[in-house]
Amino acid sequence: MPEKVLVTREIPDAGLRLLEGFDVTVLSEAPPERDVLLEAVRGAAGILPTVTERIDAEVMDAAGEGLKVVTNMAVGYDNIDVEAATERGVVVTNTPEVLNETTADTAFMLLLAAARRLGEAERLLRSGGWDAWGPKQLIGPDVWGKRLGIIGFGRIGQALARRATGFSMEPVYHDQYRNEDAERELGAQYLELDELLEGCDFVSIHTPLTPETTHLIGTEELRKMKQEAVLVNTSRGPVVDEAALADALAERRIFAAGLDVYEEEPKVHPKLLELENVVLAPHIGSASIETRDKMAALAAENLAAVLRGEQPKTPING
Ligand code: DGY
Repeated sequence: MPEKVLVTREIPDAGLRLLEGFDVTVLSEAPPERDVLLEAVRGAAGILPTVTERIDAEVMDAAGEGLKVVTNMAVGYDNIDVEAATERGVVVTNTPEVLNETTADTAFMLLLAAARRLGEAERLLRSGGWDAWGPKQLIGPDVWGKRLGIIGFGRIGQALARRATGFSMEPVYHDQYRNEDAERELGAQYLELDELLEGCDFVSIHTPLTPETTHLIGTEELRKMKQEAVLVNTSRGPVVDEAALADALAERRIFAAGLDVYEEEPKVHPKLLELENVVLAPHIGSASIETRDKMAALAAENLAAVLRGEQPKTPING
């Protein structure tokens, strides 16, 4: 009997193809309701979830003792209770590396769009409100030549630094760990968080979500930023206190923000929705055709490997 595999959402064929030979259920196009997930997971040996599903002890127990592996189709895995998985002998994997460049592209896109007011400009044009070129119309700070502070200097943060140097920007970074090789390679100076916030024109966040990084950027940190600064977040919503950010933007304490992630997705703080000086994207950091194929393939490869008794490529535990 082929082992049962639950894929929680419709994923690219590049992934599904690699699961041939297993008894695969693809649950739904939209995020499944919790009770639907708990029912569908019964008897699964492998689960391939996305960031929209919380895979915790309850889900693992609903799957039963035959559950061997959970392969998240994402690099971030704050939606998985890794400790509960480890206690149950369940392997957890993610999809690192394959989305680095695409996510860095998204961060740079938001940085440019927020500085140069692209969202606001497009809204003006589409609403029929654009009547003439204006010498002071929709002006924002230059990006090129400015100082970019990168919070979280892993692979995505480093990929962003590479883009920044192409725009003659000066990359600096803050991270829990110093990376002197990357500093040399990218010409990026290490700064303490406060120094980075006080001294940068652009700040982009690339940390994983952990108890330590939850609300890493709140009222106090926003007050330290320059009034003409732009904040970008493509990591996880709860790293930024959304209400505090909405206040800072409304009071023009910082110039603008570009966001791809939110504290309670798919909800967005209502105040942010009202503001002109924030560009809002619906968690599309890794949403290129090539990258989503690679993420789906890596998650499926990991799942198939564990069910065949082999080592997965990118394990988180064990
Ligand atoms: C990830 O991989 O963690 C993203 O947020 C989903 O693309």
